[in-house]
Amino acid sequence: MGTLKAKIIGTGSYLPKRVLSNQDLEKIVETTDDWIVTRTGMKERRIAREDEFTSDMGADAARAALDDAGMSAEEIDFILVATMTPDYMCPSTSCLIQKAIGATKAASMDVGAACTGFLYVLATAKAFVETGLAKNVLVIASEKLSSITDYQDRATCVLFGDGASACIVSAAKERKGLELSGITLGCDGGQADILVIPAGGCRQPASNETVENRQHYVKMEGKEVFKHAVRRMESACKECLELAELQEQDISWLIPHQANIRIIDAMAKRFKHLPPDRIFKTVHKYGNTSASSVGIALDELLKQESLQKGERILLTAFGGGLTWGAAVLTSTGDV
Ligand code: COA
Repeated sequence: MGTLKAKIIGTGSYLPKRVLSNQDLEKIVETTDDWIVTRTGMKERRIAREDEFTSDMGADAARAALDDAGMSAEEIDFILVATMTPDYMCPSTSCLIQKAIGATKAASMDVGAACTGFLYVLATAKAFVETGLAKNVLVIASEKLSSITDYQDRATCVLFGDGASACIVSAAKERKGLELSGITLGCDGGQADILVIPAGGCRQPASNETVENRQHYVKMEGKEVFKHAVRRMESACKECLELAELQEQDISWLIPHQANIRIIDAMAKRFKHLPPDRIFKTVHKYGNTSASSVGIALDELLKQESLQKGERILLTAFGGGLTWGAAVLTSTGDV
């Protein structure tokens, strides 16, 4: 049991076709391309079709990851979905994806950890495969943030986009991939109210009043979230490297949560040995896709670059909750 080592053996992602540019947003709220680019680094983001849901995007990303791993859906025995925009309150989005892709032998569940979701499901997948509870876990993060975004609130609507990411986590010895060398997670529930969707849960079930008061949309104290973001990601990275008995210099790539270019740049300053082009960014073209963000970036990085054996990627994220985390992935070759 103790000898099983979890690794990512395939990745995939899905981005909707429709582009919402800063110029489009200028027509919707009082904002400017210059304000958005200067304060966030975002130029455009993707928006799902009205008839395209979190489960559809998640299923597309899952198919791409299965294809990348050369596996069939029937080989998956567990599906984990990170999302804060599920299709329904019940059933879970993972059940809908299980049906959509035909993963008939897989158990499935959703995990809620907001923008840190991908790291939370990755950690859960590692625990399942390394204890022998599952062989092949399909990890998915999918978000239709446009469905909880208030397009009358300029402080939030410029930030979010839709999209999905996925990977296959397996302990199969014969497979090469990215070994999950260390993962650390954290939470401060004392900060729960700085990023919240007030209505729709049991505290404030949907009513005419909650709809009129726009309580089903995300509310955020942006400045407060910003303050915590860099500090939490930095300490998570440090903790994770210690856990994996590694130094900063052992890392070849950093993928931080794509929430804001200023947050990413502040993280970059803390990794002085990494050249700027080793801090992977998608924020300019997809905005903040919440749980999906680091997974989408990971898939794009792996499709663009071929990693040498022993090269390492550090992923880190933070989000509502507050939650945060970091993970070190080590290439075992041929990734
Ligand atoms: N266009 C133009 N002006 C805007 C605007 C927009 N889209 N959004 C806000 N403003 C205005 C504000 O009303 C404010 O005006 P005021 O000074 O007259 O009151 C001014 O710009 C400054 O707002 P502020 O909130 O102080 O800006 P900021 O520099 O903190 O940037 C965020 C705002 C949201 C971009 C930034 O705080 C942020 O990225 N926070 C982290 C959010 C995050 O990562 N969330 C996801 C968590 S996973």
